[in-house]
Amino acid sequence: MKKKILILSGGISKERLISLDTGYQVAKELKKNGYRVKISEPDSNLQKNIKIFRPNIIFNALHGQFGEDGYIQTILERYNIPYTHSDAISSSIAMDKEISKKIFIKNKIKTPKFVTYSYDIKISNLIKKVKKKFKFPVIVKPINEGSSVNVFICNEKNIVKIINSIKNYKKIMIEEFIGGREIQVAIMGKMKLGAIELKPKRKFYDYQAKYNVNARTKHIIPVDLTKKKMSELMNIAFKTHNLIGCSGVTRSDFKFLNGKFYLLEINTQPGMTKLSLVPEIAAHKGLSFIKLIEWILNDATKKR
Ligand SMILES: Nc1ncnc2c1ncn2[C@@H]1O[C@H](COP(=O)(O)OP(=O)(O)O)[C@@H](O)[C@H]1O
Ligand SMILES: [Mg+2]
Repeated sequence: MKKKILILSGGISKERLISLDTGYQVAKELKKNGYRVKISEPDSNLQKNIKIFRPNIIFNALHGQFGEDGYIQTILERYNIPYTHSDAISSSIAMDKEISKKIFIKNKIKTPKFVTYSYDIKISNLIKKVKKKFKFPVIVKPINEGSSVNVFICNEKNIVKIINSIKNYKKIMIEEFIGGREIQVAIMGKMKLGAIELKPKRKFYDYQAKYNVNARTKHIIPVDLTKKKMSELMNIAFKTHNLIGCSGVTRSDFKFLNGKFYLLEINTQPGMTKLSLVPEIAAHKGLSFIKLIEWILNDATKKR
């Protein structure tokens, strides 16, 4: 008898639509393969849905705040049902770009230089600090967001306006801008699954470049790197996955400039639509979408 899978998708984050897509694609694939599936929002109906459906495994298809940052994982622990991907602690560390970058630096993993800002000092003083530390352009981003939402390339002229426009975040980060290539790596448990390069036609790999096919971002696989560089890249992603204590599948986002890899972040809930990067890397390695999903489910079972 095939297992009963409850898929958590939607949620309240700015990545709600992506999560609904991930949930829908995973559900469709599982149903096609004989599983019994129920999709649930992570809201007040969740408890009732779990009670009535009695799933064997919960597939967490949420992205962003409340889905990827340890909050829902803490609630899921209470149900004593295996759930997919990373646990509460590693999710919350990975989602916090400031804490995770401090861990990267401590462990000699190269990451762009940064300062954080919580609207506590005068913005003019912040700009002075930024000018001392980096050259323009710089990157401004929230420390706890995803899908490039509210990520901006800023110059000296527009930085104040942009920082003021995202005041609703408790904390933001200003980073040195790293040009060069955009490469992302998937790690699957103990397996270094592979890499993919993105060539956006837009200024950077922003929300449109990620999800709008009309933005025509080029996906390049296999990535053109020497064997040595490829193995260096895989090792950094693998080390990071383990350092943060992640489980299941993760995707690490890098910039590659002048022979050096800069780790931007590690994602504990990578997108799982058929057009997402992890399924694409998996397919290139001969792992079908259903096999990838089944591996993730199986990993959840073994973990707890
Ligand atoms: N320091 C940086 N230098 C150059 N580009 C960056 C930098 N930080 C982010 N970006 C661009 O913005 C995208 C999203 O940034 P990232 O830190 O991965 O946040 P998110 O969690 O929103 O994906 C990256 O894939 C990259 O294209
Ligand atoms: Mg990213």
